[in-house]
Amino acid sequence: MTAPRTHDILALRGRVVTFRDDPFATDPVAALHHEEDGLIIIRDGRIERMGAHADTLPHLPAGTQVVHYPDCVISAGFVDTHVHYPQLPMIAAYGEQLLEWLERYTFPTESRFRDPAYARDIARRFLAGLLRCGTTTAAVFCTVHPQSVEAFFSESERLDTLMIAGKVLMDRNAPPDLRDTAQGGYDDSLALMTRWHGRGRQMYAVTPRFAPTSSEEQLELAGALLARDDTVFMQTHLAENLDEVAWVRGLFPARRSYLDVYAHAGLVRPRAIMGHAIHVDEPDLMTCHDSGCALAHCPTSNLFLGSGSFRLFDALDPRRPVRVGLGTDIGAGTSLSQLQSLNEAYKVAQGTGRRLHPAQAFWLATAGGARALHLDHRIGTIAPGMEADLCILDPAATPLQALRAQSCDSISDLLFSLMMLGDDRSIRATYVAGRKVHERT
Ligand code: GUN
Ligand code: ZN
Repeated sequence: MTAPRTHDILALRGRVVTFRDDPFATDPVAALHHEEDGLIIIRDGRIERMGAHADTLPHLPAGTQVVHYPDCVISAGFVDTHVHYPQLPMIAAYGEQLLEWLERYTFPTESRFRDPAYARDIARRFLAGLLRCGTTTAAVFCTVHPQSVEAFFSESERLDTLMIAGKVLMDRNAPPDLRDTAQGGYDDSLALMTRWHGRGRQMYAVTPRFAPTSSEEQLELAGALLARDDTVFMQTHLAENLDEVAWVRGLFPARRSYLDVYAHAGLVRPRAIMGHAIHVDEPDLMTCHDSGCALAHCPTSNLFLGSGSFRLFDALDPRRPVRVGLGTDIGAGTSLSQLQSLNEAYKVAQGTGRRLHPAQAFWLATAGGARALHLDHRIGTIAPGMEADLCILDPAATPLQALRAQSCDSISDLLFSLMMLGDDRSIRATYVAGRKVHERT
């Protein structure tokens, strides 16, 4: 176990946005809490107090450093609910849809993670890239190699970031050097889970890649791993692409649906995260609602691979809401920035005839993502007791954004300009557990 870090008391001043409610369940503007001139007091990595500057200042211990971001918006750090760190080097690979893309680009790239030094280098670049984009928590696929997980958690622990990650399980339909066995995958996962789950801020996810690359026995053993500890996560892919869905139907003819393959193995439960879930039906959504599992909406990836359109408002239907987070899905996704994900999520929603309000969008990237992961008691909002993972957004990071920001007459419009025009340049600084870990130069 690493010793908890101690931090000096620190305060941040600026325009604060956070959520007091679910903007898909109530008026989005009412759900958004906005302090025009706010002050956040942080002690030992947690938020001690947040409110209007004038009201909060008297509570600030004498001599406390106040970092003032007068033209910026202070938000909870972004949450990325689905991403593959080993695929960072192969982002923007030309020309294929999912199954060919996996064969041609992904598997050869992932083979390189047998080398722990390479894994460490990419893990370091990936985490720096996330922080540069204001993302402070992610659910991360490693590769089939246990050393890829070791490299990732070691780097995350060094930064004290709250990360969820796991070893990919894959015992069939993959190149021989990327295959484990049902029992070997179980043993390696158990060792990693025992070593890393709950160590500091690191958390383990049992990670069967997707149904086509795991035998029924491997899926059953993944369920057995989860049955040992209900605080452990599960992450996989679900119904992303029509050829993939047809393949799964052929491999598991006895199951009602793709989701049912996972449900049968005990994988559909709280803290399970299903990437994509584009081609699902109403009974599947009902199962997701009842079970407390989460769907990761990955719009830049879905557009890049031509996978289809996630029906966000169907998933979030207030009559049986499903937990939904936002994923970049690097390397099929085209940006590590959740602002870019929101840009594309807005357009995907438009294409399905729905309007994604900026408050709903920012909720998905922060509080909603935290809720999807059952971590909303720790991260995703700015309130006393929450862990101080924050990002500082600059709405005027480029000349065009500065021009557009001049015409913003509400916080909603300012957030909308950020999500449509923003990227890593929009992140002035990022704080993890109250410590500045990125500053734009
Ligand atoms: N389905 C199975 N593996 C993957 C992957 O690595 N990326 C995406 N987008 N879909 C997958
Ligand atoms: Zn993925």
